[in-house]
Amino acid sequence: MSPAPFSVVYVGAGEINFGTVEGPWNHSLRVENTFGASLDVVGIIDPDVVRAEKQIALKNTAGVPGYANAQIWTTPELAGADLGSDRPIDLVIVGAPPHFRGCAAPPADLDLRLLAALPQTKRWLVEKPVSAAQPTALAGQDKVAEAYKKSGAIVGVGYMLCALKGVEKIQQMIKEKGLTVMGTAARTKPAWWNKQISCGPIVEQATHLASLSLLFGGAARLPSVRTQTVEHFEAPGKLSKLGFDEDSTVPAESRIPRYTSAIWKYKGGAVGSLTHVVGLHGNTYDTEFEVICDGTTFRLVDCYTPCPRLFIRQSDKSAEVEVHNFAGDDPFQTQIDALVAGSPKCTFEEALATYQLTWAIREAGERERLLEQEQ
Ligand SMILES: NC(=O)c1ccc[n+]([C@@H]2O[C@H](COP(=O)([O-])OP(=O)(O)OC[C@H]3O[C@@H](n4cnc5c(N)ncnc54)[C@H](O)[C@@H]3O)[C@@H](O)[C@H]2O)c1
Repeated sequence: MSPAPFSVVYVGAGEINFGTVEGPWNHSLRVENTFGASLDVVGIIDPDVVRAEKQIALKNTAGVPGYANAQIWTTPELAGADLGSDRPIDLVIVGAPPHFRGCAAPPADLDLRLLAALPQTKRWLVEKPVSAAQPTALAGQDKVAEAYKKSGAIVGVGYMLCALKGVEKIQQMIKEKGLTVMGTAARTKPAWWNKQISCGPIVEQATHLASLSLLFGGAARLPSVRTQTVEHFEAPGKLSKLGFDEDSTVPAESRIPRYTSAIWKYKGGAVGSLTHVVGLHGNTYDTEFEVICDGTTFRLVDCYTPCPRLFIRQSDKSAEVEVHNFAGDDPFQTQIDALVAGSPKCTFEEALATYQLTWAIREAGERERLLEQEQ
């Protein structure tokens, strides 16, 4: 007997769901890996019908099972009306831009509309960041979290670094040795250029490292966040190489900080820090994440590569640094499989806490600049 079909709806026909040459993200590929011939792609919700048609055609031409009957809807309501509430939906992957998500009112109420239109959905995978609006009661990010909770479905968010094998190794060792985390330190050097469009490098990019920080440090005390930045108009912020014409394409007030250094206290007493640098030329990300405990320190590097490495120093055992290589690690696959199994690596509540921390980091930096101007 063949297994029951696993039915999936994609929201967004873009890169996160269907891949790009620029990075490893491609949820549809991982879902296909897991479900093979039992996959049933019910359809894609995207106002860009041409793009959705193209993605389905590419899959059908390549002979990928599951897309033969895939439909296209431009809105959640049309999908809901077409499918009715009896048609089972095992998984909805929400890969629309964050400007349409995370809030209680249009145009950013996509989550609430999806929950109303497809109430039978058993699992949701929502992309990061969970919103693009400043987190406030008025914007209603908490209401969205509450609505997902009330739905009774399993909800995960695409913070895939939480699904790294190296992260699991650190978690296991902390548990086995009964360690208490004293501090977390995250450093990342990627590039992203306009904070009005993308919310800035912390909210949009370093967010992955913020999510890892909270995974180990627990909840952060947001009022404790302090941030210093190097801005584009300061001497150390003059970059020797820019891959595009920033002067004519990004207004001065929207240019991103070149260097952001933030520090905060966790509610449990540990200290967290995050450094983000736009100074690495080329397309690679250089990331480092440290977890510091009494007697044992962990340093995870190359988090975005196919071979993350973990350095462990256990002063109760040896002065030598142990090196663990995780060749071929695919956190996107682990993320999907963990969600399908009912234990998402990052829940919506956790992702919202990450979102709030990244805004607190950005706002603390902006406050600091205003204070400087007044002095
Ligand atoms: N976890 C990761 O590593 C990772 C990587 C890439 C992107 N992302 C996230 O995925 C999200 C999407 O990014 P992308 O690169 O796929 O963007 P994209 O622009 O390639 O695709 C987004 C698609 O969503 C569609 N869309 C717009 N409004 C919509 C709506 N109301 N309903 C349904 N579809 C709508 C667009 O037409 C477009 O086809 C972002 O939040 C981004 O941060 C995460």
